[in-house]
Amino acid sequence: MAGAGPVTRPGERATVRLRDGGPEEGPRYAPEWLQLREPADAAARAEDLLDPLRIRLANLPGRSGGLVVHDLGCGTGSMGRWLAPRLDGAQHWVLHDRDPYLLHFAAVASPRSAADGSRVTVETRRGDVARLTPDALTGASLVTASALLDVLTEEEIETLADACTGAGCPVLLTLSVAGRVELAPGDPLDAEIADAFNAHQRRTGLLGPDAITFACEAFSERGATVRVQPSPWRLGPGEAALTEQWLRGWVGAAVEQRPELADRAERYLNARLAACAAGTLRVTLHHSDLLALPRPTDGAA
Ligand SMILES: C[S@@+](CC[C@H](N)C(=O)[O-])C[C@H]1O[C@@H](n2cnc3c(N)ncnc32)[C@H](O)[C@@H]1O
Repeated sequence: MAGAGPVTRPGERATVRLRDGGPEEGPRYAPEWLQLREPADAAARAEDLLDPLRIRLANLPGRSGGLVVHDLGCGTGSMGRWLAPRLDGAQHWVLHDRDPYLLHFAAVASPRSAADGSRVTVETRRGDVARLTPDALTGASLVTASALLDVLTEEEIETLADACTGAGCPVLLTLSVAGRVELAPGDPLDAEIADAFNAHQRRTGLLGPDAITFACEAFSERGATVRVQPSPWRLGPGEAALTEQWLRGWVGAAVEQRPELADRAERYLNARLAACAAGTLRVTLHHSDLLALPRPTDGAA
């Protein structure tokens, strides 16, 4: 699940494991889960935001030296593998994450060339992106993130918006959960599970489905022009492995939030998994992509 990752139920053997982080580290994401979702993420990303982004990048002062792209919460690097080959010109990607294990995967499978064949290089930076300062983004041409906003708090998004608008470069924040899921065929329990899942996402002060609206406001208040486009996962029989893992995580989180749902949720999950295996289940999981174009500053590359 974008921004959440699978949750394992007690006694259940997870095929995709969400590793425990320390209390200050937050949850850690299994690379297998990020790899499983990468094709659905790539299909979902809002291509319509790319032209306004390309226009802004083409007009950046100092562009001839190539683009410097900071990808925040990069995980295994799927954003760069999607975006780098869609942009022209030499690019240097700075991949940020707090998890060194994921940074290793990101560095090994980094994109090699841009849309026009120019060279793409990467470096990794371990750290907390929720504490970024404008200095950390000095010289940035573009900041990206994917499936990150909904695991941040209001304060963390404010800090991020300060850092990005301070750097004056465009910001592409993709695949934030919108809190809406459609399953076909429908089931009376769908809405209750969705509500419990959304409450679970919000439960430690994280924004979950409210992140996208909050981020739009944060960037607008800082003078940026903001555009939002839908970027839903559309899961059918061809995505059965991803749908299965997502279902387990989605229902598991709902039950963690509302334990009284456990019996009904177990029957629900079993029926949903059977439909998934039979190829008769379709899931639309809504996300939003946000492009913020801050006023350029002298510091922008
Ligand atoms: C849902 S995963 C998305 C990974 C990747 N962007 C993608 O789309 O596949 C969220 C990522 O953000 C990282 N992350 C979450 N909060 C962070 C923070 N405060 N500082 C640095 N990394 C963070 C996690 O380690 C994880 O790699």
